Amino acid sequence: MNKEGERFRPIWIDLQADVVKVIDQRALPHEQVIMDLNSVDQVIFAIREMVVRGAPLIGVTGAYGIFIALKNDKYNGDATYIENDAEKITNARPTAVNLAWGVNRTLSAVLPEKDPARQIDIARRVAGEIAEEEVENSRNIGQYGVKLIEEIARKKFGKPVNILTHCNAGSLACIEYGTATAPIYAAREKGINVHVWVDETRPLNQGARLTAWELGKYGVPHTVIPDNAGGHLMQHAMVDMVIVGTDRSTYTGDVANKIGTYLKALAAKDNNIPFYIALPVSTIDRSLEKGLNHIPIEKRSAEEVHYMEGLNSQNKLEKIKITPKNSTTVNYGFDVTPARLITGLITNKGICKATSNDIQQLLQPK
Ligand code: MRU
Repeated sequence: MNKEGERFRPIWIDLQADVVKVIDQRALPHEQVIMDLNSVDQVIFAIREMVVRGAPLIGVTGAYGIFIALKNDKYNGDATYIENDAEKITNARPTAVNLAWGVNRTLSAVLPEKDPARQIDIARRVAGEIAEEEVENSRNIGQYGVKLIEEIARKKFGKPVNILTHCNAGSLACIEYGTATAPIYAAREKGINVHVWVDETRPLNQGARLTAWELGKYGVPHTVIPDNAGGHLMQHAMVDMVIVGTDRSTYTGDVANKIGTYLKALAAKDNNIPFYIALPVSTIDRSLEKGLNHIPIEKRSAEEVHYMEGLNSQNKLEKIKITPKNSTTVNYGFDVTPARLITGLITNKGICKATSNDIQQLLQPK
């Protein structure tokens, strides 16, 4: 892993070994484990078990999944073989639209080519291009979003701009800079005084583990809070704006993101606090009008709610049970925030209102 403050990537390809490598985010922040992805089953495992997670990163991992499938000895140039693998990879998790998008884009680039060796080169190139595009997307989200932070900073005369975020929509969920974190990193680069309230984000604590880790790595002042504290902080004017990511947005501006996002949007609305969604346009599902009951919401294992993981007194990662023996749990991974609760979308193409007209306009080729 790289030095403190130096940009890192959660996925890369070791060109010498021609192997895709990822940071195992299940072990962060306490252990830094690198995992090689050498088979389609390993790609599916990495996505499903959240070794890699976050919409843009899942999309890039899916794209590399096609590259890995083509390198499998059993592959003999039969397109059905790869199409089956593509479907299996796409079904690893249902909510993030980037997964199917990354897989299909790589597949459609590969299939016209009949020579297996050249197919591998095409897949490696396209997956790499998607990764670089996501870096560019995040950078642009940062450049557009920092203007919103600057505006608030001007009114606060140097006092910190307090930004609340939920889950991890940072470099670890993308390739670099993140989405929700991109304006924050851009503000830091401009020397703007910012402070981040980081929702712990139960049950897998992506905020307490991952967002806190990367903000710390980049020297951004932050405070980890219980998920239920945000409303109270808003009532007491301790939050200036909310920026979160999304796994899938409709063309009318409804947004699916980590479970709990909708409750933050309601509290922000009730306290007149700007509530922004940061996203690359690759996360807009142009086939979907309505979000509620239309965006597939992942239901994950009950274990994730029954148990919590952390460092024990021997500094070892340990899983502990927090619920009583006979209690049951249910574990929805995401919820939908309707467009009416969203102040705006911060995208790589600019900022717009969460309405179909504004989004259509933004998506118009320039
Ligand atoms: O279950 P996860 O950790 O994959 O959920 C991630 C999120 O909800 C992120 O906010 C979203 O994917 C945007 S990542 C830029």
